Amino acid sequence: MRLTLRRRVVAPYRTVDGTPKDWQQTQNGNFRDTFPSNLWTDITIPFWSMPENTDHPTQKSEKLIAKLILASTRIGEIVFDPFLGSGTSSVVAKKLGRRYLGIELDEDYCLLTEKRLELAEADRAIQGYTNEIFWERNTLMAQKSRRSTVDEGEG
Ligand SMILES: C[S@@+](CC[C@H](N)C(=O)[O-])C[C@H]1O[C@@H](n2cnc3c(N)ncnc32)[C@H](O)[C@@H]1O
Repeated sequence: MRLTLRRRVVAPYRTVDGTPKDWQQTQNGNFRDTFPSNLWTDITIPFWSMPENTDHPTQKSEKLIAKLILASTRIGEIVFDPFLGSGTSSVVAKKLGRRYLGIELDEDYCLLTEKRLELAEADRAIQGYTNEIFWERNTLMAQKSRRSTVDEGEG
């Protein structure tokens, strides 16, 4: 699967015939699809306000693990994490259609994982990853709010 990052276009260059060069012009703004570079600046810790947040002290973000899993596995393959913590690797593996296996020393953290896996039955959302595209931080929200402004204007 292609790992795609959608960024807002800063310099909207055009070819000589005036068509956008490597970017798309949309009603909601101008975007370019790229591959993630070697430096990932769009990852945060799971803040308390994010649905994925748990009490685990070193929980990784689902978005970070999703990038790793998408870059290194195919659908149906197994993701093994011998230090599972709050279960992020297994939860993301499940959301992305991979099988998973995890080991965790602390029983409370295992329970957090079980709860998260149960929630993932109904909710496959991964924050920052929509329609198989990673969105640069705040880009999707900006696009949504611009769209609702347009919709309200059309009413
Ligand atoms: C850095 S945390 C992993 C955090 C995890 N990636 C997440 O997103 O929640 C490492 C975990 O390994 C567990 N651990 C440490 N030694 C272990 C061992 N020998 N066997 C299994 N789990 C162990 C700790 O209890 C801790 O929850």
